[in-house]
This record gives sequence, structure tokens and C-alpha cells, in this order.
Amino acid sequence: MADNSWGTEAPLRTEQTTTLTPGQSPFDGRYLIERLLDCGGSADIYVVSHRYTQRRFALKIPRPNQPPAVHERLRREVPLLAEVRHPNIVDLHDAGESPQGPYLVLELVEGRTLEALLTGRRELPVDFVLSVLSQVAEAVVACHRQGIAHRDIKPANILVTPTGVAKLIDFNVAVRDGSTTQARMTHVGCFVGTPEYLPLEVLSGAPISSYAVDVYSFGATFYELLCGSLPHEGCTLTQRSEAPPSIASRRADLDPELASLVDRCVSTDPADRPTSMTDIAAVLMAMRRGERASLPRKAPTGRELRRYARAPYLSAARVGRADGSRLDGRVEEISGGGVQISSKIALEVGENVIVRFTLPSGDIAATRMNIRWSRAGREGFLSGGEFSEITDAARTVIVLYVEGREAAQ
Ligand SMILES: Nc1ncnc2c1ncn2[C@@H]1O[C@H](COP(=O)(O)OP(=O)(O)OP(=O)(O)O)[C@@H](O)[C@H]1O
Ligand SMILES: [Mg+2]
Repeated sequence: MADNSWGTEAPLRTEQTTTLTPGQSPFDGRYLIERLLDCGGSADIYVVSHRYTQRRFALKIPRPNQPPAVHERLRREVPLLAEVRHPNIVDLHDAGESPQGPYLVLELVEGRTLEALLTGRRELPVDFVLSVLSQVAEAVVACHRQGIAHRDIKPANILVTPTGVAKLIDFNVAVRDGSTTQARMTHVGCFVGTPEYLPLEVLSGAPISSYAVDVYSFGATFYELLCGSLPHEGCTLTQRSEAPPSIASRRADLDPELASLVDRCVSTDPADRPTSMTDIAAVLMAMRRGERASLPRKAPTGRELRRYARAPYLSAARVGRADGSRLDGRVEEISGGGVQISSKIALEVGENVIVRFTLPSGDIAATRMNIRWSRAGREGFLSGGEFSEITDAARTVIVLYVEGREAAQ
């Protein structure tokens, strides 16, 4: 990818496929094309200036003759990017349709991608990486709070300004809440996203929460910036099944807590990875302030979860299914490892769902669960699910409730 350093003209590609030329003024004459800035996988990025305000922007538009799927993805990028406004996410100013396809008019970020900054270097300074990636973590947390997963976090999709401000770009394969990432193949036959930064589960076609994809990609980006290469050598399932070398073995000057955070994000076993970007962002923020910080203990394994005591607990529950449908049910029993739900419609064993219910504290919990068993019950069906994603705070509330019930008996 071209170095998009400001002040140097980005070279035009030798196999020029662009149709917009400097001085042209398409889109109702509102934007004047100044120059080609960079070429993405399927879109070109131009510097444009607004005819009336004279403000400069980055125009993202598909190259000519791209398949309809490319146009569709750009159209999907528009409402997602419009929704997530954050100081560390590129701002969307305008969007529209042109004879060449949909286009986005973005804040022009004066800076370079982390990919460009790493080129020609073995590694980047730890303080710089910590500062930039803690900003990116905040940006990803903001997305996840809005129910959006980015799914393509990598150095080429992070711009850094000369004053050190990070901007997350490229929401081309982002998705909304509830989607599981599985078999991420487009009908043109290639992965959506970037295989080198995707976890093993995605490459092997297993379902995985899209938020968990972001955790792995964020970790792989962190690892690469700290030691100049990715945690795994390649993308075959055999290569990916092997545990990556610990980051401390590649870079000796790292704080042990930071090394542990990076190692856990890129762990081959999903159960070892942090369960939320919020936890990661909080630890990075504390580290930047010079405080000692570490992630909550790792998510319990299946065997540990079975050790959780359970207690009866009644609460209305709303279950979101992978196909986007929702059904109403009732939590009947609760433990720190999962809940039992009764519902009129059967849930399938192995199904991944999102369950929203009221915690004993009165807060609403939105947990991800895998359905372990299901049988006909008194009022329809009864199913047992194991949490695959739950905040530490919610789990603590549940465990305290169950312990309280046990003590009262
Ligand atoms: N708002 C912006 N300001 C400055 N440069 C930008 C901006 N948006 C994109 N770029 C540059 O253009 C490149 C490609 O943009 P982007 O990643 O959005 O395109 P893409 O076609 O979706 O990419 P990919 O290659 O990941 O498929 C970026 O790596 C960056 O160098
Ligand atoms: Mg990109």
C-alpha cells in the first residue's frame, strides 16, 4: 500500500484503473478532485476539496468495474460509520451514489498508517504503541457499545497524525450486533477481512462472536507493532493451531503485564482471550497513567464453569438468535456459568444466542451463550446455556446472589 505521508504526492498506480483525474468536479460539482491519495483493496481514496467551503476531505470510491458485492459493502459502511462518532474514529461527512458506484466523503486524516510507520523498521517504541493502541481500544469499545464490530482491525486500517492521534478507518466489513462471524467468504471467493489478523476459529469456519474477532485482531496488531511480525507464521490451520511464541521472547523490554495482555489476546485457545474490549481498554489506559494493571482472571473453562453453584432465579429474558430473530422466554435458574431458560419455541443445542435479562442487582445483562442442552418442559421448552461472553461485574453479581441463596438455606 502506498505511503500516505502528507506532503509527498502518493504515486499513481502503474496499472492505473482510476477514472477520476485532478481538476475534475463530479458529484453535482460539489467536490473538486485534487489527487489520488491511496488505493485500498477495491476502493480508491482521493483528496478532494469542497467547492463552496474549500474544506478538504478524503473521498472513498470503488475502482471501476468492481463486482456488485464491493458496491454493497461500501453502501453498508455508510450507516455504520455515520453511527459511530468518536475522536479516534474517522468522521463521515457525506455519502452518495455516482456513476462509478457509492462514495464516502471522510474527514481527511493528515497522517500515516501504522503499516507505513512499521515499514522498514523491526519494531516501534513501546510508549508509542501503547499510546496509539489505547486510543484504538477506546474506539473499538465505542463501536461495541453501539453494537458494531469492526472485523478488520490491522495496522493498515489505523492512521496516526503527526501529533499522535489515532484514527480507526475502513468499516468495509463491519457488522451490527448479534452477528456471529462464520465462513466469512464472499461470493467472489475470498475472505472478507484480512486472514492474517483473523483468529483460527474464523479460518476453520467455526462460529465466533464478531466482537471476539476484534479482540484477536487487536492483539495481532499489537504483537506485530511490538516485534515486527505477526504471532503466527501463516494462515494454514496447522500453523494457526500451534501456540505463538510469547511476545516477551520476541521483545525483552516489555512490562510483564503488557506482555501478558498481548499474549492472551492472540491465544490459540479462545477461552484464554480477554472477554471484552472494555477490559483491554481499561488496562491500557491505566498502564498509560503509569499504574500497575492487569486483565481480570481468564474466562473459566467448561470444567470450571460446571463447578459453579446454581440457584432458582426468575426473570423475563429476550433471546436474540444468530438469524436475527428474537424470542421471549424466562430465566428459571442461574449460575456464574450460565442460565436455564424456558421458552415457547425450542432453542437448538449448539446454538449461539444473546440473552438479555435483569440481574439480581437490577441492571440489565446482555450475555452471549451457547446452548448446551434442550428438552420439552412444562410450558414449552427448557434449555441450558453456558455464557460465552459476560462482563466480570455481571458474573460477580450472579455468584454473590447464588452464594446468598445457599447461605440462606
Ligand atoms: N480518511 C482518510 N484520510 C486519509 N487517508 C485515508 C483515509 N481513508 C483511507 N485512507 C488511506 O487509504 C487507504 C485505503 O483506505 P480503506 O482502508 O478505507 O480502503 P479499503 O479499500 O476498504 O481497504 P482494504 O485494502 O483494507 O480493503 C488507507 O490504508 C489509508 O492509507
Ligand atoms: Mg483498509
